[in-house]
Amino acid sequence: MESTTGYKEDLEKLEIHLLLEALYSWYGFDYRNYAYSSIRRRIWHRVHAEKLTTISGLHERVLHDPACFKRLLADFSINVTEMFRDPSFFADFREKVVPLLRTYPSIRIWHAGCSTGEEVYSMAILLKEEGLYEKTKIYATDINTEVLKVAKSGLYPMEPMRKYTNNYIQTGGKKAFSDYYHVIGNKVQFDSSLLKNVVFAQHNLVTDGSFNEFNVILCRNVMIYFNKTLQNMVHDLFYNSLCMFGVIGLGDKETITYTKHSDRYESISERQKIYKKIK
Ligand SMILES: C[S@@+](CC[C@H](N)C(=O)[O-])C[C@H]1O[C@@H](n2cnc3c(N)ncnc32)[C@H](O)[C@@H]1O
Repeated sequence: MESTTGYKEDLEKLEIHLLLEALYSWYGFDYRNYAYSSIRRRIWHRVHAEKLTTISGLHERVLHDPACFKRLLADFSINVTEMFRDPSFFADFREKVVPLLRTYPSIRIWHAGCSTGEEVYSMAILLKEEGLYEKTKIYATDINTEVLKVAKSGLYPMEPMRKYTNNYIQTGGKKAFSDYYHVIGNKVQFDSSLLKNVVFAQHNLVTDGSFNEFNVILCRNVMIYFNKTLQNMVHDLFYNSLCMFGVIGLGDKETITYTKHSDRYESISERQKIYKKIK
């Protein structure tokens, strides 16, 4: 006889499958290949927050109540980020990628999954200090339009600035970090000149295609939430969007090694997950 646990698990899997299919068919948002355990946790969080008892109940509500869909979308969106996150990544970028970029007449960089923009401001600061900003165009995209609004505003809480300043110093920052922002109450406003060459746009890595050819793509701490199938799909997109000798930077828990394109890149910094397209 089948155990009750097995029955419950199977039913839960079916309900999750149907819910994700419905989100895709009805709203066009495709979460079918996100990492299962994380998406499962977030679905249950929403079930309880809506005071429901089953995933099927949530299924009905998201279809009939777009506001509930938005709340679920917000639960799916993990936007944790910081300025100069993993300072050694930016230190290696400064040391090992900047010399390559100096040889180009113009530079196009894509921040895919930029969240609230801290990574973009960090890159803009680094490029300014290396004298490369003026010839660079930065495209910063995310699936989530709410985080893009914050990114465009350049207005951030004061509280983490001490940590960000430390991060900046560790990356080999050449000025005082406070030169790039001014304080307004308990917030800081980053210098709008950092956005002069930045375009923010909504782009879904799962369903949208390539839109340019880039010298650098940063997609850090995004694919960690995808399953293997989706990671490979997105790596196809990045491979096809990078010019020859283009550089891709991933998050510290991500790697190119086990993807189908691994032999088409060589490592610039294995520790910092920075790779160069070589074929
Ligand atoms: C944890 S944040 C990473 C932010 C930044 N790259 C960093 O490393 O600090 C992940 C971001 O990926 C975005 N994201 C998730 N799925 C996406 C998709 N399918 N297409 C584009 N962005 C996506 C989320 O909205 C979120 O802002």
